[in-house]
Amino acid sequence: MPSYSFRRASSALLFFSPIVSFICAPLDAREPVRARHAMVVASQPAEQVGLEVLRKGGNAIDAAIAVGFALNWAYPFAGALGGGGFMTIRLADGTSTFIDFREEAPAKASKAMYLDANGNPTRESLTGWKSSGVPGTVRGFEMAQRKYGKLKWAEDLAPAIAMASKGFPAPYALAESLRNARSVSANAESKRVFQRDGAFYEQGDIVTFPDLARTLTRIAENGADEFYLGETARTLAAAMEANGGLITLDDLKNYKAVERTPLTGKYRNYTVITAPPPSAGGLGILQMLAMLEGTGYEKGGFGSASALHYEAEVMRRFYADRNQYLGDPDFVKNPIAGLLDPAYIAARRGSIDPAHATPSSAVGPGKPAGAESSETTHFDVVDEQGNAVSVTFTLNGGYGNGITVPGLGFLLNNEMDDFTSKPGVPNLFGLVQGEANTIAPGKRPVSSMAPTIVLRDGKLFAVLGGPGGSRIPSAILQAFLAVVDFGMSPQDAVDAPRIHHQWLPDRITMERGISPDTLDLLKARGHDVRYEAGPVTAEVEMIVIDGGWLQGAGDPRRSGAAAGY
Ligand code: DON
Repeated sequence: MPSYSFRRASSALLFFSPIVSFICAPLDAREPVRARHAMVVASQPAEQVGLEVLRKGGNAIDAAIAVGFALNWAYPFAGALGGGGFMTIRLADGTSTFIDFREEAPAKASKAMYLDANGNPTRESLTGWKSSGVPGTVRGFEMAQRKYGKLKWAEDLAPAIAMASKGFPAPYALAESLRNARSVSANAESKRVFQRDGAFYEQGDIVTFPDLARTLTRIAENGADEFYLGETARTLAAAMEANGGLITLDDLKNYKAVERTPLTGKYRNYTVITAPPPSAGGLGILQMLAMLEGTGYEKGGFGSASALHYEAEVMRRFYADRNQYLGDPDFVKNPIAGLLDPAYIAARRGSIDPAHATPSSAVGPGKPAGAESSETTHFDVVDEQGNAVSVTFTLNGGYGNGITVPGLGFLLNNEMDDFTSKPGVPNLFGLVQGEANTIAPGKRPVSSMAPTIVLRDGKLFAVLGGPGGSRIPSAILQAFLAVVDFGMSPQDAVDAPRIHHQWLPDRITMERGISPDTLDLLKARGHDVRYEAGPVTAEVEMIVIDGGWLQGAGDPRRSGAAAGY
């Protein structure tokens, strides 16, 4: 539960004073959860599992792993034994690292595997057994735990196993989401496990996941080898073979998590540590911040048409580069240095017209040096020692491809759709991508996920990230700017309505909290602007460390919750 809101109370009092009312926060402003020592932000009730592990003496890495395993029952929409993701870590000693446990294309995958006889994309990258890449989560968690955790592996898994077998009262959001999950209803095993064969869970019903608890228990006893070589691997590979899927025992055996150097960049007196390729999201955050720096974009105030105009223009320019240049770094050369080079950024910034939208047809990818022609969830942990972990992982679409391997109790990803099935044709997130991200055996698809850690004057300042496909980098950007350029509390920054532009389609979409007036002002600058069809863009979960407090902000768009001590 959020802590008592002093600001809300004081705002209510000040509201009646004409003299000071202009300085009071809006009445709906919310306070972050505050704590002195440690903080976890995750989809509820998984944040409680993280807190339990911290209180038992685990560090931030232990807590992150506990939360990650717990999300398989707390948030099966994305919680991702059958998927993959990224973890950004900054240790209290000042070193930082990045663990890439992104899914990989199986050995039988091929460049044109999702094209029909006429060369048009089929839906097989999204639905059915062929849509899954080799899951990476368990190997990634194992790597992080062995190298950086403090407790025993089995201790990190224990609370997730206990909750999956004992059960917990379904939060409203979980019950509703499971009831409405059509891809889950379409698969007999998923329907049995997640929808009680049609006797849907109601809010408050006790939900148990006994198959998942057994799978997690074997993983706790036998380590990640259980998932990649053991009974779990054999069951998964046999089900793939029986159903025309591609993943074999060899694919599982060969999967490796990769430790990479995070991308790092500067914005004012902040250092941003974020995800390198195969994520495009980290590059995006650094490029967009660098393009904004020094423009004075913030002068019109938070949510003003002039600020949103600049934000949309830097988004447009980043996404054009993203779609052209990025691919798995083990397969293609990513011109990262060129894309972040100050002269290149200055030229991109210089092409922004302060008063008019630049049509995307006139933008296109830039020419950085070194270029060759050629449903997700996020959580953050900070512990008492100052170790910080930011994790985003996913099954891609909500509930992945909706398939549960019989007896294993977890859903499979449809991450293969993040590859370019056909250059120039939009994927699930409308991204129109190029050759660098085409399918090859063992290759990892480009991701937008960008778990990020920020330092201020060299000291830990923020841990943030979020789900939302292509909208992840733009959402993280806006939440961060809301805190550092517009002085908002982390909770208000997370709650505030956001916009999104991704080059193609050439359009700004905005959440409904932004006024029709602002929409009209952006139209007058030449933007095609529309309100989101759905209620939200992407979510952001954030911890800010300021004034001796850890301030946790969960995103209400998807039942994010913060807890600390
Ligand atoms: O890696 C990516 O960019 C996507 N597979 C993330 C999917 C996602 O965020 C879905 N959640 N809303």
